[in-house]
Amino acid sequence: MCTLADENCMMNSWDDAFRHSKGVEQQQKTGFFNHNFQMEKHNFVTIADLSKEKIMYLIDMASEFEKHPNRELLKGKVVATLFYEPSTRTRLSFETAANRLGARVIGFSDAKASSVSKGETLKDTILMVSNYADVIAMRHSLEGAAQYASEVAPVPIINAGDGAHQHPSQTMLDLYSIYKTQGTLENLNIYLVGDLKYGRTVHSLIMAMRHFNPTFHFVAPKELAMPNEYKIYCREHDIKFQEHTAFNEKVIADADIIYMTRVQKERFSDLMEYERVKNVYILRNDMLGNVKENMRILHPLPRVNEIAYDVDDNPHAYYIQQAQNGLYAREAIFSYCLGITLDDIRADKTIIG
Ligand code: CP
Repeated sequence: MCTLADENCMMNSWDDAFRHSKGVEQQQKTGFFNHNFQMEKHNFVTIADLSKEKIMYLIDMASEFEKHPNRELLKGKVVATLFYEPSTRTRLSFETAANRLGARVIGFSDAKASSVSKGETLKDTILMVSNYADVIAMRHSLEGAAQYASEVAPVPIINAGDGAHQHPSQTMLDLYSIYKTQGTLENLNIYLVGDLKYGRTVHSLIMAMRHFNPTFHFVAPKELAMPNEYKIYCREHDIKFQEHTAFNEKVIADADIIYMTRVQKERFSDLMEYERVKNVYILRNDMLGNVKENMRILHPLPRVNEIAYDVDDNPHAYYIQQAQNGLYAREAIFSYCLGITLDDIRADKTIIG
C-alpha cells in the first residue's frame, strides 16, 4: 500500500493536510494569495455529489459533443493533467478532450519527472499548477488526494482516480455508454465482475446508479468481495444487490450490463494473494450463447486476461466504444468545471468540421 511518505507528500497526516488547507482558505479570504478564487468552483471529485438531473445534464452534454467533438469552446484555456499513477485512456482522453475543444495542455504523466521527486508536497504542486492552469485533472494513488487538492486549489479539480476509492470521470463515460446502449439508465440488471474490493470504477458506478433503481449483482471471490462500506451504501439508498461467487452462463442470463474488471495487482500488499485470485473469472465467447439481446459487456480497461480475445468480435462486446465515449464525457466534464452550460454548447458557433 502507498503511504504519504512514498508519495513525498511530506504531510504528517491528512489531518495536517486539512489544517494546512484551512490555512490556505483563510489566506485566500484575506487576500494574501493573488489567486482569482472562484466562490462557486465546480470540482468533479466524487460522483456522490451529482443529482440525477445533473447526471442527465452531463449525458446530454456528452451527446452534443459526440455530434460535434471539435470546437473552440475552450480556446485560451489551459488544462493541466497531473498523473501520479500510470494511465492510458484517462489521461489521453482528457488531453484529447482539451485539444479538441481548443485548450492547451500542460502536466506530467510520471511524477518522478516532476519536482515531486525532490520532495515537493501535493499541496505545493497543486498550488503551483493552479498558477498556470484553469482546471486540473489529477490521478493519485492515495484515497482522498483529489478531495484534498480541491480543498487547497483555487481552480477546479477533476478526480481522475484516487487509489481504490473513486473514479468519477470513468463513471460518467460508463453512464453515457449504458444510456446509449440501453436507451435508459432505469431498472437495469448490472453484473459487476472481478475485483470489487480494489476496483474504484465499480465503487463510483454504484453511487451514481442510486438514482436509477438498478439491481446489482456482485460477482467476486471472497478475497475481492465488495467492501462492506459499499454494501451499507446500497442498503442506505435502497439499492438492490445480490452476491455471487460463481461466474457462468446461468448466472449472467438476465444481465443487461456485464461490467468486467481487472484484478488490481498494484493494490495488493501480498503478491501471493494476487497470484491466487488473478485468473479467477474469465469471460469467454462460449458463455454468451443465452444472454439478452440488449446485453452489453463493459470494462473500464486495461484488460489483462479477464475477457478472452474471442469475445472482442461478439456483438455484445462494447468496451472499445466505451473508451471512445470517454472523449465526449470528458469534454462535458471540462465544460461543467469551466462554467460552460448545455445551452452554451447548443448555441456554440465555434464548431470545426
Ligand atoms: N479506465 C482507466 O482508468 O484506464 P487508464 O488506467 O488507462 O486510464
